[in-house]
Amino acid sequence: MKTLVYAHRGASKLAPENTMPAFQLAYEMGAEGIETDVQLSKDGIPVLIHDETVRRTTNAIGFVQDYTYEQLQNLDAGSWFSEKFENTPIISLEEFLAWAEGKNIDLNIELKNNVIDYSDLEKKVYQLLIKYKLARRTTISSFNPASIERFKHIDRKIATALLTSQRIKGLVDYAAGLGAHALHIKHRLLNSAIVEQCFEKDMALRVYTINRVSLMKKCYQLKADAIFTDVPDIAIDQRQLF
Ligand code: G3P
Ligand code: CA
Repeated sequence: MKTLVYAHRGASKLAPENTMPAFQLAYEMGAEGIETDVQLSKDGIPVLIHDETVRRTTNAIGFVQDYTYEQLQNLDAGSWFSEKFENTPIISLEEFLAWAEGKNIDLNIELKNNVIDYSDLEKKVYQLLIKYKLARRTTISSFNPASIERFKHIDRKIATALLTSQRIKGLVDYAAGLGAHALHIKHRLLNSAIVEQCFEKDMALRVYTINRVSLMKKCYQLKADAIFTDVPDIAIDQRQLF
């Protein structure tokens, strides 16, 4: 099995992260998956933005959860990246799923609930996945193990992944105990032992964030199941050599 290439926040090296231009570009580049980050607006709408605040990636300041969805839509989420993307909006998870519905691409929705544990985030995301019939080609991931467990209670068949950057003893057993189908690890945790342990537990192992060619080669050599990268075009190109 080849290592799949997931576009991290879309093709986020060439377009503003978590926006439609970044997703469209990733799709056109041939990425097998798209990763994105979900937070909740003040009025409870799941929206795609990485940080808990809007400061880094928009022209405003403050917490995402203090803006209504309508207010968030009116922010400029492109100019910070380049003039070319001026007034690119923040989009909702629903807009993203409507776009993905007819496309042959896997999704990884990261619930950004390890800093703010948004109430009912899991339920809201799940309802949208059902509405767009995308539950079976989506992996739900989180750094928050309690959220993985909550999702398992909503639908035990949905693919979930525990995210971690920590070198923890017994990590693979812990993730398996949560009922996670996959482990998403920071690249410095990758070695042949963790690959082997995941294989034995029948868990997928995906690695973030792989932007350097040397790291891509390591992931391909060790046969990670997938990588998350800001540069899917380069990752796909490099993969041909393996
Ligand atoms: O899902 C992999 C990766 O996106 C996790 O870290 O900070 O980029 O969301 P972060
Ligand atoms: Ca993420």
